[in-house]
Amino acid sequence: MSVEVVIKDGAQTTGEGPHWEDSTRTLLYVDILNGGVIRWNAVTGQKEDKHFDEPVSLVVPCRKGGYIIGLGRKLAHFDWDSGKVTTLHEVPPKGSNDRFNDGKCDPRGRLWAGTMGHETVPANPEREKGVLFCLGLDGQLVSCVDKIDISNGLAWTEDNRTMYYIDSLPRKVYGFDYDIETGNISNQRTVVDFGEGTLGRLGYPDGMAIDTEGKIWVACYSVGKVVRFDPQTGKELRTIEFPALRTTSCCFGGKNLDELYVTCGREGASEEELEKYPLSGSVFKVTGLGVKGYPATIYEG
Ligand code: BGC
Ligand code: CA
Repeated sequence: MSVEVVIKDGAQTTGEGPHWEDSTRTLLYVDILNGGVIRWNAVTGQKEDKHFDEPVSLVVPCRKGGYIIGLGRKLAHFDWDSGKVTTLHEVPPKGSNDRFNDGKCDPRGRLWAGTMGHETVPANPEREKGVLFCLGLDGQLVSCVDKIDISNGLAWTEDNRTMYYIDSLPRKVYGFDYDIETGNISNQRTVVDFGEGTLGRLGYPDGMAIDTEGKIWVACYSVGKVVRFDPQTGKELRTIEFPALRTTSCCFGGKNLDELYVTCGREGASEEELEKYPLSGSVFKVTGLGVKGYPATIYEG
């Protein structure tokens, strides 16, 4: 197993929302508070970015072309070449400065994306201001879970019967029964509880990816780790460490979907932290894990 830097200083604030586009071997991700959307071609090494005046929290390709981005409290369609941004939905404020955070498409191509309250310091937002939404294939936005602190990672099991979802401050990964035909969720339970007394070792659960063995890889914000958990037992299986503390998310990529791309942030880091972890904000690639992920799904609506 090895960890290497693939995009040094890939984000100035919080690098997030990695999405591997298989057809072009491109990694998409965002630099949230910098309003940046980045695409990096893994074959040529070419990096392109676009900037917005509001925080950008997620980027997902659309079947009809372009991307869906989370822009402040909006979900918008973005055409890279023309730069045209079309607002699809703007969700009502629950506090001041709440915004979208992580989002991902389910196996049918619905986009699930959640919000969070205003934060002046990372991992310390106004509590319970977040909502998890689902953007259906018909373009309608439905509010699905309320009173979330920091809406974060999402993943679906291979049989499409379970959705995993992270709220970072309760430090839990939830499981829901999932109806792939309707996108309905039910029967919320906790599948991984980071638990009391583990903040210093495990930090805050953030983004996640699922492998083809049904195990989840959770980025642990503030401790520089991605931990593989068994959602059946809630137990830790394996830990990968990074030379940057604010690990935010991960996705499988590469030709065989057996590489793990990991984003992290610099936002909120002290001079001392940046001196000790100069690679904060970079994008890392882990190879030789011996597991694979699924191709990322895109918005099909
Ligand atoms: C959010 C950050 C937050 C961090 C802490 C990220 O997903 O975008 O704003 O500070 O999670 O868990
Ligand atoms: Ca995240």
